[in-house]
Amino acid sequence: MQEIKVQLSQHKKDKPAQEQLPFGRFFTDHMFVMDYSKDKGWFDARVIPYQPIVLDPAAIIFHYGQTVFEGLKAYITKDQDVLLFRPEENMKRMNRSNRRLCIPEIDEDLGLEALKKLISIDRDWIPNKEGTSLYIRPFVFATEPYLGVAPSTTYQFVIILSPVGAYYKEGINPVKIAVESEYVRAVKGGTGNAKTAGNYASSLKAQEEAEAEGYSQVLWLDGKEHKYIEEVGSMNVFFKINGEVVTPELNGSILEGITRKSVIELLKHWNIPVIEKKISMEEIYQAHGEGKLEEAFGTGTAAVISPIGELNWENHKLTIHNGETGELSKKIYDTLTGIQTGIKEDPFNWVLKVE
Ligand code: COI
Repeated sequence: MQEIKVQLSQHKKDKPAQEQLPFGRFFTDHMFVMDYSKDKGWFDARVIPYQPIVLDPAAIIFHYGQTVFEGLKAYITKDQDVLLFRPEENMKRMNRSNRRLCIPEIDEDLGLEALKKLISIDRDWIPNKEGTSLYIRPFVFATEPYLGVAPSTTYQFVIILSPVGAYYKEGINPVKIAVESEYVRAVKGGTGNAKTAGNYASSLKAQEEAEAEGYSQVLWLDGKEHKYIEEVGSMNVFFKINGEVVTPELNGSILEGITRKSVIELLKHWNIPVIEKKISMEEIYQAHGEGKLEEAFGTGTAAVISPIGELNWENHKLTIHNGETGELSKKIYDTLTGIQTGIKEDPFNWVLKVE
């Protein structure tokens, strides 16, 4: 494995207050960078002071969006240990996204070493107040100056760190979600299951319209029939119906969330029935009408577990669990954050300590 060089910053920034820490607005003192060229492969792995990236205006990323990203979090325990949650899963998913976007794969062990090195250098940026963490954003982008539509021959892999609070202004209180019946996020065969910028760019219009109506985000339906539930864009989605938990099955257009996977494993561990299947919005509407829709919640790295208090589907407002956090959502939130922050036992070996 190549050596990671380190150049420390001479100008340490002021850290933000931990009270009401926003999501993704503050960045630490250092960043990790590595370059790729066809003849050298990935080379020059380095931690450097946090700084702007200079690119040619013709760089492929600006024109054709050849880029992927990841998101994970580091937590600091009472004993000052730094914990990462299933980071190897992020490295694997980053390479799955890379393959879909024709970006050369990155050595997952090197990616993990880079994460650990950068975090240990900026470890005093990890906030410790409840509900806060250090959000880690690895990303890869095409740097070759070329206006033809073709995979780049040069790339950069960068990791930045951001001390964060809750993703939604509601914190861990229930959010209101609008079911999107017009726009679509992804279709089978497209890039919906890759973590790539275009999926998020195409979601902005619907998001903006939903926000104007007082909703936090939109719930996407399938791109073909506009019937089946997919995801919320920054979260996967779960419903508890009549004692059973259901979540849309992975179908090629849904993001394979690591929190989603962990929640399924947790529910199985608790012997709570959990099923991955195609779920139509009609089924959810009916279950609600029959009083069987007990809870709904989103799962994601940024959002962790976000209870859903209301769904608006074609002007039918479905209030879920009286607009309050359900018992199961709360139990999953407490267990997951407990494991992530080292307060709770980790029977699954999900947590990795940064030495
Ligand atoms: C994450 O949960 O880490 C994500 O990548 C969602 C992001 C769009 C905030």
